[in-house]
Amino acid sequence: MIPFMYGTVVTKDFFCGRAEVILRINELLLSSQNVVLHGERRIGKSSLVVEVIRRQKAVTGIYVDLMEVKSEEDLFQRLARGVLAAKYKKSMFELLGKTLTNFKPQIGIDPITQLPTLSIDSKIKIEDNSIDAIFNSIVEINKKQRVSVFVDEFQDVLKIKEHRPLLAKLRSKIQYISDISFVYAGSIRSQMEQIFADIDSPFFKSAIPITVGPIEHDLLTEFIKARFKIGKRNISEKIIEKIFTITDMITGDIQQVCEAIWSTSSHGDEITNDSFYKAVELIFSHENVVYQRIFGELTGFQLKVLKGVAQYGGREIYSNNFFEKNGFTNASSVKRAIDKLIKVKILFIYKKEYKFANPFFKLWLLKNYT
Ligand SMILES: Nc1ncnc2c1ncn2[C@@H]1O[C@H](COP(=O)(O)OP(=O)(O)OP(=O)(O)O)[C@@H](O)[C@H]1O
Ligand SMILES: [Mg+2]
Repeated sequence: MIPFMYGTVVTKDFFCGRAEVILRINELLLSSQNVVLHGERRIGKSSLVVEVIRRQKAVTGIYVDLMEVKSEEDLFQRLARGVLAAKYKKSMFELLGKTLTNFKPQIGIDPITQLPTLSIDSKIKIEDNSIDAIFNSIVEINKKQRVSVFVDEFQDVLKIKEHRPLLAKLRSKIQYISDISFVYAGSIRSQMEQIFADIDSPFFKSAIPITVGPIEHDLLTEFIKARFKIGKRNISEKIIEKIFTITDMITGDIQQVCEAIWSTSSHGDEITNDSFYKAVELIFSHENVVYQRIFGELTGFQLKVLKGVAQYGGREIYSNNFFEKNGFTNASSVKRAIDKLIKVKILFIYKKEYKFANPFFKLWLLKNYT
């Protein structure tokens, strides 16, 4: 068994820390408040949501993922599927079948548990009154078994062409269900802000914001040591610190390095600096095609600006010092390059600092081109 997982939601033994934020979310769920979880990419929002649902006994979680949602119809289908997929008591089965009749739920049997399941046919046409049907159904279910609704990648609702009237419609429904908590999670900070912090948005201040940040430093250190111990590998705090620094404490990236160290080391090994660099090389080799493509798509000047940010940091890129070190003379051309690098999502801005979306690409640039 590989004790590190990345790129998927992690729960149970793979899930570390976050006790405080889980407690806080649970409190809010129990008092039927709406919550919005903000956080950087790969920091662990989805895992947190799924783990909250898994641990929660008093409230059943309905999980809906809106990643790349295409249309209003697609959104309602996902919502209906989420409603049907939640974990209900056996006695709820009949009610569920009845309550979503518009969606013509099909009865099946789970091959593993042999319990009955309900699913909907993706070809079912969603009628105009479907939104009422789904929300009524959630209200009916909640009368018998308390539920809360978790909507992941909520910002993708903005990808739907007619999202404004849709958001208004959703908001007006949600606002009347005051005894059910809605939890929204999303990654793209500015877009989540557009939904929850823009005064003209129907969702303006409609949920209590919680920031999902890095996992507690000491807890994560102990967690990583213990996971390596499972396969009789020893890792020092110094190396762990190095992993934290290069990944800027982004949870998913930390796990990616640990997984690479794991797969380039053996039973009984002491993890050294060499093992660390071997692991980073492995990541480079996996991601090399992507790096080359990015490289090929940028102009010489954009690359020069990018290397400057890799080498000297992205905090003061318009300072004389940064210009001198990189030989830049024209602020507007640097700004244009930065705008482009943000647009293609190579860089992002966080607390006035330009950062690499992929820390390994930054290391690769530093190694090969500076
Ligand atoms: N509590 C945790 N303990 C250990 N590792 C975690 C934890 N949460 C997340 N991770 C690691 O981070 C990775 C990304 O987690 P997750 O998909 O939950 O993040 P996310 O913020 O939802 O990401 P995205 O922005 O891509 O949606 C996981 O695959 C796992 O490696
Ligand atoms: Mg996620």
